[in-house]
Amino acid sequence: MRLAPQPSAQPLRLIVLLLLSTGVITSPVLSSGCPDRCVCDDQLVVQCAGQHLTTFPVNLPLATRQLIISNNRIVELPPLALNYLSDLVYLDCSNNSLTEISESTFGNLRKLAYLDLSFNTLIRIEDRTFGPLTSLVMLRMTDNPGLSEIHPDAFAENAALQVLDVSRNNLTVLNITSLIALPALRSVGLSGNPWSCECDNEDLQHLILSKTEHLGQTVCGSPADIQGRRLGEVGIQLRTLCHQTLGSWDYLFFVVIGFVIFAAGTVSAWVMGVIMVLYERYIKKKDEQLDVDDLTGCCGCSFIFNRQLLARKHIRIFPENV
Ligand SMILES: *[C@@H]1O[C@H](CO)[C@@H](O)[C@H](O)[C@H]1NC(C)=O
Ligand SMILES: *[C@@H]1O[C@H](CO)[C@@H](O)[C@H](O)[C@H]1NC(C)=O
Ligand SMILES: *[C@@H]1O[C@H](CO)[C@@H](O)[C@H](O)[C@H]1NC(C)=O
Repeated sequence: MRLAPQPSAQPLRLIVLLLLSTGVITSPVLSSGCPDRCVCDDQLVVQCAGQHLTTFPVNLPLATRQLIISNNRIVELPPLALNYLSDLVYLDCSNNSLTEISESTFGNLRKLAYLDLSFNTLIRIEDRTFGPLTSLVMLRMTDNPGLSEIHPDAFAENAALQVLDVSRNNLTVLNITSLIALPALRSVGLSGNPWSCECDNEDLQHLILSKTEHLGQTVCGSPADIQGRRLGEVGIQLRTLCHQTLGSWDYLFFVVIGFVIFAAGTVSAWVMGVIMVLYERYIKKKDEQLDVDDLTGCCGCSFIFNRQLLARKHIRIFPENV
């Protein structure tokens, strides 16, 4: 069952309707024309590649299913114009000058299956950037030389994603927790990044061994002593290393435990000593009593026993006199 329009699409549509009715936008949507310098065919493909465009094309047919704007110098994908195209399945934005993609950029593109953002100048990918793209199957985001940060949950909602390529960027770490959870994911391109081969990036090596091609070009960028070595190779080595080495907290733990054991040992030895001394005294006392009892021949007679106790000093001399 399909529910009512998604929450993020609703305000957008209202704004569009409002703008249209007040005549602010001279309806790029309703035109059945084709943008300048682009070629539109009856298969709903709009081809604008290599046309020296610096802005996103206007006048796009509303029903566009494929849009190719690669090899231009477009600096921004305007959310409002892009999200008219709710039937868009294929979007190629490669080789442009895109520096930023916001949460609302792809807000309404629920049918989009292919997205190419390669050869741009992206710097970071935020949490919700690809969130609305629930049908996305292939995402290519290679060759962005400054791209050094991808949010851990950037792909968390792309349950249909099968192929992800982030090769040849400037990535040192990638949290793969949400990637591993994607049910359809079968290939991840990671080569050509200066990956950090430290223990905190250990999970990445698991992914590399299971889903990555081009293992030869997936090498460590740091630390210096294993720079240039294949990530897949050092992965196995690191896994053993990372789980053997102890951090300073581990050492502190051992020191504390050692001290506790030492203290417990000392206290228990002392307690044992005290018990021994008391026990010895008790035994001695008992022996003396027995001696006295033997002498008087009155074991059960408490009256005499008490008297004898009180008069111990005197009695003690007594046997010597016998
Ligand atoms: C990028 O587009 C320019 C034209 O704008 C072209 O000359 C260049 O070869 C393209 N680069 C790639 C990698 O496709
Ligand atoms: C790549 O990232 C490093 C820091 O991790 C930075 O120093 C360097 O300038 C970045 N390279 C580019 C091309 O932005
Ligand atoms: C990866 O991200 C998840 C949250 O998405 C977080 O719980 C986890 O600690 C992160 N892992 C690393 C190694 O940073």
